[in-house]
Amino acid sequence: MTGRRADIHFHLLPGVDDGPATMEDAVELARAAQRDGTAIVVATPHVRHDFVTDPSDLPDRLHELRERLARERIALQLHCGGELGYEMVGSLEQRHLETIAVGPSGASWILLEPPNEGPDEELHLAADELRGRGFGVVLAHPERSAPLMADDAAGLRHELNRGSVLQVNAWSLAGGFGPQAERSAIWLVGSGVVTTLASDAHGGVRSPELSVGLERASWGLTSQRARMLTEASPARADRARHAGACAGGVDRTRRFTDVYDSNEGSAWAQPASV
Ligand SMILES: [Fe+2]
Repeated sequence: MTGRRADIHFHLLPGVDDGPATMEDAVELARAAQRDGTAIVVATPHVRHDFVTDPSDLPDRLHELRERLARERIALQLHCGGELGYEMVGSLEQRHLETIAVGPSGASWILLEPPNEGPDEELHLAADELRGRGFGVVLAHPERSAPLMADDAAGLRHELNRGSVLQVNAWSLAGGFGPQAERSAIWLVGSGVVTTLASDAHGGVRSPELSVGLERASWGLTSQRARMLTEASPARADRARHAGACAGGVDRTRRFTDVYDSNEGSAWAQPASV
């Protein structure tokens, strides 16, 4: 049995960041995701100084979008999240972090955006602060972060050891962010340290097709393992648990399946096979 396809990094909320400008644009993006086979989306607007600085109204905005998609008969299961800029962590109140965290209390995680350039010390401090405040950390597209990938990915290894898990962009695997990001993405996926692929869709050329990344990932992985990068399954939970083994305090064992809610219950009957 396979799980439903989920996209945990998706700029789908209209009019809040550099994603879709209008509700109509958001509807078209959602339709494209559904066409590609996506069933579950975590809406992750940029939460950083140049876009959303107060996430309080994101649940209401998500509710509006959910109602509109229902009227359009687009069957996407939506969750409220955010792509949190590392420099914002210290200035957000706990209730703000909880608004953009995904998963149940005590086992929720936040998508953290690392810097593309410059030093990475602040990113590590921000990730540690998030863990200290009770959240797991999912690093967004580390393959695009020069500081994390420098020195044989020393910064990334540090984060993995601290319990962060990795989300790679599907379009990075397909070459959409240049040869360096493509090489890094392929290396990370092939190394087995990536927990999930996501689209990081914004609209325009940054479309929500996870299939392009899956196809590329399948060149070096078994089809089952490639598929697991975008689906809920027991093995995904096992990998998240393994990745989180070094970070005490928070139960991470269900972190990635809890996005998918109780509909995924039957998948738990199947043992992990990787
Ligand atoms: Fe993003």
